[in-house]
Amino acid sequence: MSLDLLFQPFTIKNLTLPNRLVMAPMTRSFSPGGIPTDEVAAYYRRRAEADVGLIVTEGTVVDRPAARNDENVPIFYGDALPAWKKVVDEVHAAGGHIAPQIWHVGSARGQGADWKPFGKVDSPSGMTAPDKVKFEPMTEEEIADTISAFEKSAGHARELGFDAVEIHGAHGYLIDQFMWDGLNRRDDRWGGKTLSERSRFAIEVIKAVRRGIGEDIPLIMRLSQWKQQDYTVQMAKTPDEMAAWLQPMAEAGVDVFHCSQRRFWEPEFEGSDLNFAGWAKKLTAKPTITVGSVGLDGEFLASLTKGEGAHKSDLNELLRRLEREEFDLVAVGRALLADPQWASKVKAGKFDETVDFDRKHMMNLY
Ligand SMILES: Cc1cc2nc3c(=O)[nH]c(=O)nc-3n(C[C@H](O)[C@H](O)[C@H](O)COP(=O)(O)O)c2cc1C
Repeated sequence: MSLDLLFQPFTIKNLTLPNRLVMAPMTRSFSPGGIPTDEVAAYYRRRAEADVGLIVTEGTVVDRPAARNDENVPIFYGDALPAWKKVVDEVHAAGGHIAPQIWHVGSARGQGADWKPFGKVDSPSGMTAPDKVKFEPMTEEEIADTISAFEKSAGHARELGFDAVEIHGAHGYLIDQFMWDGLNRRDDRWGGKTLSERSRFAIEVIKAVRRGIGEDIPLIMRLSQWKQQDYTVQMAKTPDEMAAWLQPMAEAGVDVFHCSQRRFWEPEFEGSDLNFAGWAKKLTAKPTITVGSVGLDGEFLASLTKGEGAHKSDLNELLRRLEREEFDLVAVGRALLADPQWASKVKAGKFDETVDFDRKHMMNLY
């Protein structure tokens, strides 16, 4: 199957990407005091120079006291804005496109035994895991202030010239904590028995981010069924439940759904081989981004030269799905973390030259 499929342009609103490859958002914790350094800007520039169509930055947090859980995670307000401007300028100078991933960790704790939150923890019901109550739930005022913090960060993204904005609504962080019944036990309008009721906070954040960026800039919503607190959670158990979850978000202003799963070839529901991004596209008619173990397996890249690969994670499987328009864009995380040249090497068919991901790649900005 032709690699050209991955290198076709794609247009969303006023943004035309040269190809279908997206750098997945990856927290790197190399921004001391929350301010991205010149090394961070150069790290993103390297990917922009080497055929990544769209870079989604690491999660960068809104202006709330405990929005991050690590002081080397970048903030997206105040003193960090000139540093982010440098990131945008570097990526644009290399001909690339970039979206910040706007984030709030909620009650997800940081690393280390001596970790302490930076302020009062924001979460729907004060839980860090189902039934494990550690904090006070958010008040109405705190919820309103948090939504407004998302709007302000979105406004900064527009002012700084970012090409799109992604909301981090996945993986068991604040927005996802509201959606998941495991951590949202509220009986006011921010809680509820159904997933769509518990999505009210997400919808209000989407509307706020849309107000912040205006109509023309694409808004990407990242979602996952799995949580870092529990990989097995399936919030939407049927296509109907997924439709009831996603359609109101599409109406509220989402342009692209970024559907996080750990292995892109795994079907979302029984009876069809469509993955999460495939179902999201089918149910909302919005473009979608898939992700999950692309380029991680040596087999993956070898498969093109060897014909039909034996492993499901091979490139032919990805291309087969792209060709039938199951999704529009493909995010790549660890493979691009290990090898800034990954996309260029794939484009040139130099599969044997890509650097395999290794844990050591987490320790530095390659
Ligand atoms: C070091 C690291 C940091 C990550 N940080 C984030 C993050 O800030 N936001 C997010 O949505 N996902 C984050 N993820 C998940 C990735 O975006 C991606 O979904 C995941 O790595 C699967 O893609 P891959 O198999 O291509 O690596 C992170 C993953 C890694 C490996």
